[in-house]
Amino acid sequence: MKRRLVVGNWKENPSSLSEAKELLRALKKKVTRARPVEVYLAVPHAFLHTLTGGKKNGRPLLGVQDISAFWGGAHTGEVAASMVKSIGGHFSIVGHSERRSLGETNEMVNKKVLAALGAGLHVVLCIGEEARDPEGVYLTLLTHELETAFQDIFPRDLGRVAIAYEPIFAIGKSGLDAMKGDDVHEMIIFIRKFITERFNRSRADSMPVLYGGSVDSTNAKDLLTTAGVDGFLLGRASLEVDTFFEIVRFARQV
Ligand code: PGA
Repeated sequence: MKRRLVVGNWKENPSSLSEAKELLRALKKKVTRARPVEVYLAVPHAFLHTLTGGKKNGRPLLGVQDISAFWGGAHTGEVAASMVKSIGGHFSIVGHSERRSLGETNEMVNKKVLAALGAGLHVVLCIGEEARDPEGVYLTLLTHELETAFQDIFPRDLGRVAIAYEPIFAIGKSGLDAMKGDDVHEMIIFIRKFITERFNRSRADSMPVLYGGSVDSTNAKDLLTTAGVDGFLLGRASLEVDTFFEIVRFARQV
């Protein structure tokens, strides 16, 4: 059976630990009914330890939204993957467009992927183009993002990687602005073809490929059926308990 994965990304929310605890409590109540869908939640670093209680918990699996490209040392402000792992973190999002827009390069994304995998974390690798052009230059850009991100990766670690396709123009809008199922479908095929050529067919079939960008309860079902995605990366919807679990429920049914 295909893996189904729904990843929530709280971004810079909520504004206090007490709100974060409350939100997680509400999510946990519902998540017990999510099986066999895997549910991840990327929380702010500042809250991770309290929310995990210092150890890896079942559902949802908690992680972070970004990770240091380094393994430790004199890097002010950075949080190493081993630190996240040691307080119960399960995964890190890497290469989110909101990090790339602050200057994160493909090479840095690659270092972060390697650091996270090296420390035993799972990785949700984000790729996505800023805009479309009729000549299809965006496809070259996406190939370059993928090629660089997977450089030097050990094939044995691939089972801990999921890819989230997030076109930047579709992020943070209303559900109407999400990409349409058919268009996402083309991109899922494109990504699976890359993985097949770079690794092999069975890797391409087993690696979860997610879509992110203005997913909500109005468009999730269509994206699952028409686009053939394995799940979603949810921003805003991950802060709304009912919407989040309606989407998880769709992922379980489709
Ligand atoms: P959104 O964010 O669901 O609010 O569009 C998605 C993301 O940025 O990961």
